[in-house]
Amino acid sequence: MPRDPRFDILFQPVRIGPVTARNRFYQVPHCTGMGWMRPRMLAEMRGVKAEGGWGVVNTEYCSIHPASDDQLHVSATLWDDTDIRNHRLMTDRVHEHGALAGAELWFGGSRSANLGTRLVSMDVADRPNAVGHPFQSRAMDREDIRNLRRWHRNAALRAREAGFDIVYVYATHGYLLAHFLDPETNTRTDEYGGSLTNRTRLVRELIADTKEAVGDRCAVAVRFAADAEAGEDGRPIPGERQEMFALMAEMPDLWDINIADYSLEMGASRFVREGALEPYLRWVKGATTKPVVTVGRFTSPDTMARWVKAGLTDLIGAARPSIADPFLPRKVEEGRVEDIRECIGCNVCYSGDSLALPIRCTQNPTMGEEWRRGWHPERIAPCGSDAQVLVVGAGPAGLEAARALGARGYRVALAEATRVLGGRVVREAALPGMREYIRVRDWREGQIAKMPNVEVYRESRLTADDVRSFGAGHVAIATGARWRRDLFTGKRFGPVAAPGTTVLTPDDIMDGRLPQGPAVVYDADGYYMGGVIAERLRQAGLEVTLVTPDDRVSPWAVHTGEGWRVPGHLMAQGIAILTAHELRWFDGAEVTLACVHSGRETALAAAGLVLVGQRAPVDDLYAALRYAPDGSHAPLPFTLARIGDCEAPAIIAAATYAGHLYARQLDAPVDIDLPMPHDRTDVGPRGEGAK
Ligand SMILES: Cc1cc2nc3c(=O)[nH]c(=O)nc-3n(C[C@H](O)[C@H](O)[C@H](O)COP(=O)(O)O)c2cc1C
Ligand code: SF4
Repeated sequence: MPRDPRFDILFQPVRIGPVTARNRFYQVPHCTGMGWMRPRMLAEMRGVKAEGGWGVVNTEYCSIHPASDDQLHVSATLWDDTDIRNHRLMTDRVHEHGALAGAELWFGGSRSANLGTRLVSMDVADRPNAVGHPFQSRAMDREDIRNLRRWHRNAALRAREAGFDIVYVYATHGYLLAHFLDPETNTRTDEYGGSLTNRTRLVRELIADTKEAVGDRCAVAVRFAADAEAGEDGRPIPGERQEMFALMAEMPDLWDINIADYSLEMGASRFVREGALEPYLRWVKGATTKPVVTVGRFTSPDTMARWVKAGLTDLIGAARPSIADPFLPRKVEEGRVEDIRECIGCNVCYSGDSLALPIRCTQNPTMGEEWRRGWHPERIAPCGSDAQVLVVGAGPAGLEAARALGARGYRVALAEATRVLGGRVVREAALPGMREYIRVRDWREGQIAKMPNVEVYRESRLTADDVRSFGAGHVAIATGARWRRDLFTGKRFGPVAAPGTTVLTPDDIMDGRLPQGPAVVYDADGYYMGGVIAERLRQAGLEVTLVTPDDRVSPWAVHTGEGWRVPGHLMAQGIAILTAHELRWFDGAEVTLACVHSGRETALAAAGLVLVGQRAPVDDLYAALRYAPDGSHAPLPFTLARIGDCEAPAIIAAATYAGHLYARQLDAPVDIDLPMPHDRTDVGPRGEGAK
C-alpha cells in the first residue's frame, strides 16, 4: 500500500549540522542493559532499528571516563580503543541501513557512585550520592573541570572514530551538567556559579569543545530540559529555562528537549498518555533556528504529523515506541499503520537497565534477542513441516504463539474457552490505569485476522479427549494461571483463613466480586497488581488499606519506574498504606498482621481480605494429556508443550516471549545443553585475548 499522504511530512529529510537525517523518525538515547558489556547484542539490536526505518539511532548514556561509572547498571562507554571497536559494530550496522548513529556522552556526577571503578565521584559541589549509595561526591575544582573538558573532548574524538554522526552534550536528567545549570544545586562562587552566564559556562564550553573537535563531520546535539523542576503534570514550572536556553540557542546543531520530571517523561501508561510533554515545550521551537527533537511515547503517526505541523518539533523522538516496534517508520511508509505494534507503556524495557539485564519488551519478544537468538521482529523462518498446530488458550502466550506460527506458515487452530481473546490482558486492562495493556491482544488479534492459515475457535473449552481427537501434529497448552487463595510463607503455601472464611483474589475482583465493606489488600506479589486492585476497590467507594511485607509499596515496580509514582498516586486516592507487615490470619472480621522486623502483631478491622500473593498454573489439561495414571509420560501422536503462565506464572512479557519462543523453535532442533550463544569476552583458545 502506498503511504498515506498525511504522513509525507514525517519522511522529509532533516539537516542536522553537517549531517542529514533521512526522515523525522529519531530513536532518542535509551539504555539496554547491554552497553559496554554486550556489544554484539547491542549492535544487532540498533541495526534492526535502522533497518526498520529510523532516521537516527542513538546509543544509551555513554560514559566518557571511568570517573563516571554506573555499575551495576550497564552504560555504554567511550573510554579507550576497545570501545571504539565495539561501537563500530553498531555504527556499521546502523549505516548499512542508511541511518545516522548518535552517541550520548555522559558524566554522572553525584548520580554515579563509581562503585565499579572506585574513583571518587565529582560534581558541581559537595553532594551526597543522588541514588542513595553512602558515597558522597566532592566539589570539582578548576583542574577537575579542565580534566572533564579533556575527557569529554577525547570521548567525542573516539565517537567520531567509531563512526558516529551525532555527538551529544548531555545536560539533563539530574547528571553533572544539569547540576551546573540548576540555580539550586550550583552553589559555586567561581566563574562556573552564580549568574546564568556562569552556570551555563561549562555546557557552552563543552558544546564549543565538541564542535571544534568533531564538528567538521559530526553534528553536536544537546539534551536539555524545557522546565526547571517537576510539578503538577501538564503545568510546567519554567523558572529561568528560557533565558538559559537563549544563551545557547544557536550553539549546537540539534536540541533534544525533555523535561525535569522523569516519571512523566518516561511515564508508565498507568499514569501518563501519549504526547504528555506538549505544554512544556511550546516555546522551544520559537527560541532557536536549530532542529528540535522531543519525546512523548508516540505510536500514532497522526499525532506525530500533528506535532510537526504544529511546529512543536522537527523530529519525532522515540525510545519505547522504537523498542515495541523497531519497524514503526517502515510500516508508516508502506501504508501499514495498522501493523504497528504499539507500546503499552508498561516500562518493562526499563527493568533491563534497572536490573542490569539485556533489554526486553512486553510487546516485542524479539527485542534484545536479535544477536543471541537471531530473531528479527519482522522475519521468521518458514514452517518446517505441513503439520497442523493446535494452541489451546488465547492469552498473551497463546496469541503470540498462534500469530508467530501463522507467520511461519503453519496451519494453526487457536482454541479459546471464552468469547473474547486476550486472557489475562483483557481482564487486567479493565483495571484502573491499565487500558493500554489491551494492545497486547489487539495487535495480535489484528495480525491473526489477516492469516487464512490461522483459525480461531471461541467458546471452545477443550478436554483432553477433544485435543487427542483433534488430529494436530503439535499441541501447545497456554491456559494461563489463577491467583491463589493461599499464601507462600517462605517454605510452602499455607492457608490465611479458616475454611469457610472468604478470601478474595484479584481474579474475584476482576470478576466483579468485591468486599462488602472496609478491605485489606495484602500484596505479596510486589508488582502492579496490588496497587491496581486497591485502586479498583477505592473507586468502588470502599475504605482500603494496602499492606505489603516489603519496606515499600509495589517494590518490583521500582524497576519499571512506576515505583516513582505508585505510593503518591495511591495516597492521593485515600488508600492507606502499611509497609513491612506480613499477613498472619484473617477471621472474617479482622486481619492479623505482624511487623516483619519486630514481630509485633497488629489487627485491622476488615470486611474483606484480597490476597495478591502468587498464582497457580492452570495446567490440568496439560497434565491430563502429558501423564499416564502412573505418572509416566503418556505416549502421544503429537508433540506437547505448555507455555506462558500455564508453565510458570510470570509477567506478561514472559508470556509473549514464551509464545514466540515456542513458535520459533517448532521443528527447529535446539541444543538444550547450550541453547544460545553468549555475548561475552572471549580470551581466545590460548588466552591470547586475555590482555
Ligand atoms: C529503557 C529506557 C532506557 C532509557 N535510557 C536513557 C538513557 O540512557 N539516556 C537518556 O537520555 N534517556 C534515556 N531514556 C529516556 C528516553 O530517552 C526518553 O526520553 C523517554 O523514554 C521518553 O520517550 P518515549 O516516550 O519515546 O519512551 C530511557 C528510556 C527507556 C524507556
Ligand atoms: S516494554 Fe512495555 S513500555 Fe517498554 S517498549 Fe515494550 S511495551 Fe513499551
